[in-house]
Amino acid sequence: MRHILLVITACILALTGTAALAQQSFDAGGMRIVFDDPPSYPGVRLLEMRRAADGGLSGKLTSDWYGDMPMSNLAIDGKVLRFDVRNINTRDMPTRRWTATLTDKGLLLQGGVWHSDVRQIGRPASAEEYAALAYHEAPLPPLGTIAPDGLAATPPMGWSSWNKFAEHIDDKTIRAMADAMVSSGLRDAGYVYVNIDDGWQGTRGPDGELRPNAKFPDMKALADYVHGKGLKLGLYSSPGLKTCAGYTGSYGHVAQDAKTFARWGVDYLKYDLCSGEWQYADADTVKRTYYEMGAALKATGRPIVYSLCQYGRFEVASWGRSVGGHLWRTTGDITDDYAKMSEIGFERNPKFGHAGPGGWNDPDMLEVGNGGMSRDEYITHMTLWAMSAAPLLMGHDLREMDDFTLRALKNRDVIAVDQDALGVQGKPVRKDGALEIWAKPLKDGSVALAAFNRGDKPLTASLSAHDAGLGALSAARDLWSGKAVDPAAATFDLPPHGALMLRVSAR
Ligand code: GLA
Repeated sequence: MRHILLVITACILALTGTAALAQQSFDAGGMRIVFDDPPSYPGVRLLEMRRAADGGLSGKLTSDWYGDMPMSNLAIDGKVLRFDVRNINTRDMPTRRWTATLTDKGLLLQGGVWHSDVRQIGRPASAEEYAALAYHEAPLPPLGTIAPDGLAATPPMGWSSWNKFAEHIDDKTIRAMADAMVSSGLRDAGYVYVNIDDGWQGTRGPDGELRPNAKFPDMKALADYVHGKGLKLGLYSSPGLKTCAGYTGSYGHVAQDAKTFARWGVDYLKYDLCSGEWQYADADTVKRTYYEMGAALKATGRPIVYSLCQYGRFEVASWGRSVGGHLWRTTGDITDDYAKMSEIGFERNPKFGHAGPGGWNDPDMLEVGNGGMSRDEYITHMTLWAMSAAPLLMGHDLREMDDFTLRALKNRDVIAVDQDALGVQGKPVRKDGALEIWAKPLKDGSVALAAFNRGDKPLTASLSAHDAGLGALSAARDLWSGKAVDPAAATFDLPPHGALMLRVSAR
């Protein structure tokens, strides 16, 4: 009975507060509005207006994705307040115009971030509500340098859930992938990381500790299972408040999350900028936020491979290693089509002089086996990634593989080029129309040579000692057919979008 009375009183108060809003004026400032059920993106929970001692009017929105979003260019027009809010898609639209309108039903807020618009009604917030929803800025540490730790001496190899499953993942599926990795022979070919990408996170407990969602009942048990198969477990988080798919990020909980991951037995962390683009919009803060997690992982004492994912911004290849990164994405997301894969592999990922043992340029996960490219195109995908010393993280359903897919992924000669201990990222040495020749020097003095047909018509290629940077060739092996070829006489037919890969040695 007492409870019902309290609820009724609260409702009456809220209603009178809401109606009274229409009588208020933005000029006064001192307004705190709460939105009970905002659209999930960007999740605006609070609006606050202040009148400073010097008379200046300012305001901000507080959102689930970005924390505080200050208003600029405020203009009052009767019951309507217009203002600008920074838009994180800064390239073509640095700000968006919002409006707040005082109505009988409450405060109507309209506007958007990154192309999507919201329309939501708010009511006056109590002091308790405001305190509970206020954003607490988490300061970043000064930038430091993390010494090499010997991990990822060669590019990491494994599987990741995102390309095939996106957020439709659960404990059972991850265990099934670990099983398939072993039964298919892929583990023994070198693929050891089983990486859970976005979508495993739940909410934080009262102590702030991040808990998995209901689809992952026991992360430690899952790690034990994966380890029991001779494999390693990877997990995913973001320096922002939200991950790209809208799950809980590590903002304000970096050291705590690193400890939690280590306690669960995690061996690999992908740290994806996502909503953190709001707080960390320049080179200095991006470096520091990646350093913060790098240092937190180190402090756990557990060897954890650290994968930076900020889409290649601010020339990450030149500093990824110093913030503790073992691999860093050089590009936006891959998709399962030749146009995107080849753009990433040929144009975006070549950032020479930085990749090598302990730190690798990452052109994103493999699409081999997902069905969007032809066989020739998938051979090009594997050849290009191996020539680039790229991480080989498979992205398909390991339970459903045809022979071609398995053979392409398990080719030991191709893997050996990717994993070569010298750790040199191969590069183009000759371009002739649609033909592109790449060379990658290997530890034993031999050279991997690849010929790519980037065009739509078949072509014929010949490869020379000069392409390999060698005086004369004594032996050559076609790594896709497994056959020896005569290095002097050989010409090769390349199908459209196809590739050839040789390992050649000097006389
Ligand atoms: C970003 C990353 C992807 C993937 C998704 C998950 O887009 O670049 O690799 O992790 O987020 O939401």
